[in-house]
Amino acid sequence: MSAHRIPLAGVIGAPVAHSRSPRLFAHWLETLGIEGHYAPLHVEPDDFEQVVRALPRMGFRGANVTLPHKIAALGIADQVSDRAARIGAANTLTFRDDGIHADNTDGHGFISNLRQSAPGWAAADGPAVVLGAGGAARAVLDALIEAGAPEIRLANRTRARAEALAEAFGPAIRVIDWAETAPALDGAATVVNTTSLGMQGADPFDLDLSALPASALATDIVYTPLDTPMLIAARDRGCRTVDGLGMLLHQAVPGFARWFGATPQVTEATRAAVLG
Ligand code: ATR
Repeated sequence: MSAHRIPLAGVIGAPVAHSRSPRLFAHWLETLGIEGHYAPLHVEPDDFEQVVRALPRMGFRGANVTLPHKIAALGIADQVSDRAARIGAANTLTFRDDGIHADNTDGHGFISNLRQSAPGWAAADGPAVVLGAGGAARAVLDALIEAGAPEIRLANRTRARAEALAEAFGPAIRVIDWAETAPALDGAATVVNTTSLGMQGADPFDLDLSALPASALATDIVYTPLDTPMLIAARDRGCRTVDGLGMLLHQAVPGFARWFGATPQVTEATRAAVLG
């Protein structure tokens, strides 16, 4: 890695053509006047480790990692952040002189988005209800616990997956039967959809939100469409809502800062640039 090279970074996935990260990074590089490039890198699982190990020699400072490589990214790292270890997956690799550092910034993106978009909200405000127990849920649970959520009611269609997460993340989590999700919204301060329900092309979101207090904050990991059925239903109850695009933008901040040496802001202009 020589210092005079133009800094490079990218997003590694398969597929990766749909990724919004190249637009996001191009916007920040331009806004901050930084000479650098960020590329979409389509890499199949069999090639993943070999490609990653070659990147530093080409001037790459690091890379974001998306499906299907997030677990493999943890496996090839020389150092792993505590939060990536707890989540069991990495989305941000940084190439250091002493090796590959793996981090997971999804939970950070989740919390930063809520703090910026819903001023006054705090995880400690009261119980959170989390729908879903996939990879996104792991990052959300970790972040909510770190941020001081007193209780997390975790509901997943396949109950065993929720129980496995409760085992991994400890006593703050109470597993709720999927059929009991609607009444479990009673008294919630925060509700988070991490399932694919309501996403374009996926199953419809049909959870009854009538027990959700108007004081609750509702947020969705899904951002296609931006205004999801869950957010619309929560607003009908009088709740504040935060869409999922901000999480994507905020999770990219730490990588950008490490690779390009300046901390970017998430603004309306950032959203507009990414939505293009
Ligand atoms: P990710 O890693 O992005 O979170 P995932 O691991 O495929 O994605 O998880 C998708 C989540 O959406 C899961 O919690 C899944 O529930 P199961 O664990 O029972 O599969 C949930 N999900 C998807 N379709 C659903 C449906 N029709 N009803 C209820 N939950 C659904």
